[in-house]
Amino acid sequence: MGRINTIYRISRRIITKSIILLLGSILLYKILKVNVFRQKKQITVKLKDVPAGGGIVLREQRAAIVKLNNAIEVYSLVCPHLGCTINLTEELFKCPCHGSEFDLNGIVIKGPANKNLKILTYKIEGDVIIIYI
Ligand code: FES
Repeated sequence: MGRINTIYRISRRIITKSIILLLGSILLYKILKVNVFRQKKQITVKLKDVPAGGGIVLREQRAAIVKLNNAIEVYSLVCPHLGCTINLTEELFKCPCHGSEFDLNGIVIKGPANKNLKILTYKIEGDVIIIYI
């Protein structure tokens, strides 16, 4: 009887440690996947290539750089409605799929989209803009 209890206790300990190890591994994988494996891509654009009072489209990266009143902002061109690639005109951003419109500050002015354009992270180093996509 005592031997069976000992075996039972050892088995329970092994199972408990295995479950803790498995859960720890899953948690570690999720943390590494988010923080290490998903590093953002960097795109470099020369500042002089962005016209004042307008912007440029980085079609492949689905992003646009807008320069208004000497301030730069970088927007994702992924429509917040259903993900189509938005076009940039002289006055606004317009989605070709369902007609959502956004002003040059990325603010939604006509639906069906109900969220503003996503602002992308960037930094200016010397005469270039480095965008994190
Ligand atoms: S995907 Fe842009 S308005 Fe629907």
